[in-house]
Amino acid sequence: MSKETLTVTDNRTGKTYEIPIVENQAIRAIDLREIRTSDEDFGLLAYDPAFTNTASCRSAITYIDGDKGILRYRGYPIEQLAERSNFLEVAYLIVKGDLPAPSNSKAFVHNITHHTIIHENITKFIDGFHYDAHPMGILVSTVGALSTFYPEAKKIFDAESRKVQTHRLVAKMPTLAAFAYRHSIGMPYAYPDNDLSYTGNFLNMMFKKTELKYKPNPVLEKALDVLFILHADHEQNCSTNAMRSVGSSHVDPFSAVAAATAALYGPLHGGANEAAIRMLESIGDVKNVPAEIKRVKAGEVRLQGFGHRIYKNYDPRAKIIKRIADEVFEVTGKDPLIDIAVELERIALADDYFISHKLYPNVDFYSGIIYKAMGFPLDMFPVLFAIGRTPGWIAQWQEMLLDKEQRIARPRQLYVGAEERDYVPVDERADHGDPADEQPDAR
Ligand code: ACO
Repeated sequence: MSKETLTVTDNRTGKTYEIPIVENQAIRAIDLREIRTSDEDFGLLAYDPAFTNTASCRSAITYIDGDKGILRYRGYPIEQLAERSNFLEVAYLIVKGDLPAPSNSKAFVHNITHHTIIHENITKFIDGFHYDAHPMGILVSTVGALSTFYPEAKKIFDAESRKVQTHRLVAKMPTLAAFAYRHSIGMPYAYPDNDLSYTGNFLNMMFKKTELKYKPNPVLEKALDVLFILHADHEQNCSTNAMRSVGSSHVDPFSAVAAATAALYGPLHGGANEAAIRMLESIGDVKNVPAEIKRVKAGEVRLQGFGHRIYKNYDPRAKIIKRIADEVFEVTGKDPLIDIAVELERIALADDYFISHKLYPNVDFYSGIIYKAMGFPLDMFPVLFAIGRTPGWIAQWQEMLLDKEQRIARPRQLYVGAEERDYVPVDERADHGDPADEQPDAR
């Protein structure tokens, strides 16, 4: 009979330890602490910069098999959800664990719809931003500010309070996002229209002009709804890790979502589809694709929208997005960048470099082209990601709060700094000789 344990010998002492294996795939890092050279020794730590091989939680929300290209929310394949569900139903599924029954679905949609309005004072902060303020900067600030409007959100262990804050967050993110955009183009804010679907209303708040009633194009409304579904969760990525880590201090969920949104703002996370568009624009023409592939293979540039830390196969989300791109172009007209993208993919997928490195298109390769065709400026791409990811952040935060094993997130470090030394009065200190050290700032 095989045992679910790992036997480790410490060659410094010759001692052997038996460490239990949990869930058939991990050891508890704290068990390493038993491995020590003496009673005074603190014990071994696991060193894992960027958490590339550390499970920080048990989670029942999203399953990914990166080698096989599988993504499931609460067990449901992403392909089925994209084809047959809608974003609010998926939000319910992710946050609550199961698809809603008809009456729950109706009540959930009603609750979200009736929380879309934001307090008028929030428009005053938005007014105060510079005209060219990045909408992601506005979103980070305003979603954080919501915590001051809902002080009861601090009751994070009250299930009813968590439910209401969930409705508010899912409902108000599109309103904040659209208002940030309207501010940047100097248009008056378009208030929510509760007759429209979640995604239809977002398009209304973004693009309504002088018409009395905005009518979203059903193909574009469906396409954006699917894009929101595809972004709804992706297990322990950078922004979700930020949500859990900040939330573990027991701060209110609006502040934790502000932190997660800030993490998403970074170009390595929420900004890759913008980089993909800029790359396609710089290639300029299908005939330049072979030269670009050559540059990528020579290590001069990376193919943006290709490769993934987890997926070593075609990102299942990219397959779905590629399909909906054709439907969107039927309405908006074809964006010439799509031909460049398709040719890049065709050549790359047949090339040894990309095959041997397991590089496939990721979610960002085609999503930017669709957003652009729908009229979203590049700055809004990470904002759209944030709207879609909000249910995932909330579900992960709630799971963390209710998990008895979780405590305030507090990693260890390997200290590599100076040994203890005595304070030296300022006039007795030697010059470091570093001309780049503190000088008066140029401005
Ligand atoms: N183009 C060319 N070569 C690449 C690419 C790429 N897009 N991505 C990885 N490689 C190569 C690397 O040069 C490296 O080659 P080597 O082993 O010969 O040195 C190898 O593949 C492994 O690359 P890493 O950077 O170690 O892979 P990692 O898992 O750390 O990075 C990442 C994943 C950041 C996504 C990377 O593939 C990349 O930079 N892609 C382009 C940016 C992008 O599309 N980001 C979006 C990710 S999806 C999301 O965040 C929603």
